Amino acid sequence: MLDETVRQQLLDQARRAREAAYAPYSSFTVGAAVLTAAGEIFSGCNIENASLGATICAERVAIFRAVAAGWRDLTALAVIADTPEPVAPCGLCRQVLAEFNPNCLVLMANIAGSIRLANLKELLPLAFRWPSESGEGA
Ligand code: THU
Repeated sequence: MLDETVRQQLLDQARRAREAAYAPYSSFTVGAAVLTAAGEIFSGCNIENASLGATICAERVAIFRAVAAGWRDLTALAVIADTPEPVAPCGLCRQVLAEFNPNCLVLMANIAGSIRLANLKELLPLAFRWPSESGEGA
């Protein structure tokens, strides 16, 4: 499980990242943050595009920032939006997170302060894995 202080830090970073969201088309702003095994936190926001298809979710921005900085061992991910219920990560982001940790802790939150916890295994059972013998990528 996650230490209460770290959990708060993760949620705070996600909440703050949301302020930078670029969402002129949907007006739906999302913030996310990932915690690495080394204790580093990387945050992200959704960034939309006029093509719509080139839009990227807050979760993937946070994950890609962590991976690009050299951290692949992701322990937890927090996501927050202004929704009636805690916001759940989309299917694409679940698959991307599963690439690095199929057992990642997922903290779903809303601005009102509701939080829901889940293991990624529950959110994405039978995640697609590259069908090589070792199961390892490059
Ligand atoms: N969005 C996220 O950032 N994360 C999610 O898990 C769901 C959707 C963004 C993408 C798009 O900018 C907007 O929310 C509406 O789909």
